[in-house]
Amino acid sequence: MENRCRFLKRILQQSRKLVGLDFPMALKLNSSDFQRGGFSEEESLGVVKMLDGHIDLLEISGGTYEKMVVFLMNDESSKDNARKGEAYFIDFAHRVRSISNVPLMVTGGFRSFTFCNQVLENGELDLLGMARPFITNGNDIKGFIAGEVPKLKNLVMRTGIKQFEDAAEGGFYARQLLRLAKGKELKLNMSPTWSSNFLILHELKKALAKKLA
Ligand SMILES: Cc1cc2nc3c(=O)[nH]c(=O)nc-3n(C[C@H](O)[C@H](O)[C@H](O)COP(=O)(O)O)c2cc1C
Repeated sequence: MENRCRFLKRILQQSRKLVGLDFPMALKLNSSDFQRGGFSEEESLGVVKMLDGHIDLLEISGGTYEKMVVFLMNDESSKDNARKGEAYFIDFAHRVRSISNVPLMVTGGFRSFTFCNQVLENGELDLLGMARPFITNGNDIKGFIAGEVPKLKNLVMRTGIKQFEDAAEGGFYARQLLRLAKGKELKLNMSPTWSSNFLILHELKKALAKKLA
């Protein structure tokens, strides 16, 4: 465990040296990578303990680029657990709270105004993060924060083939982000097949352009 954490600890130590004590440093850490033999929740809690005093904010997430659980969980877990359906890593956040005083943030699944405020008001979390709704629902953000829009939903891209779902969701949103970065309008009418291939083709195009340059 200590060996696996060394890289992360050195990054944090060096970063702290560069930014000084007054600058807030946050870390996004997996609760688990959901891989057989991979990083487990118990190990993640061990890392949290080790980080005590090194960071100012801990953000909890989960999964890897091979297994994008954050993109798929609201379908699977909402059936049996509405709370989990809205905030995937909230149970793990409680475990972190029980062993650490570090200010805590969770990203993944938050959508409704009432639930977001509930977890902040009752102290379960200090901050919460939202990603996909902010990409495709930009026009509703102000209304959501004001409490006028009760739910900030996100578009869900599904192919119907389990092995391609995370690639489709990732490809769809990556394309929207690339377009927003260029000042272009969103392109919401992407087909599931095109979405699931988008990132591969995008990376291929980039690699070719680099080689030809
Ligand atoms: C296109 C795209 C790219 C992402 N890239 C990263 C990344 O590089 N690192 C990371 O920690 N999370 C990344 N995420 C995950 C988000 O930060 C977030 O944890 C996830 O989308 C769940 O939150 P949400 O349900 O509010 O969308 C990415 C998400 C999207 C849609």
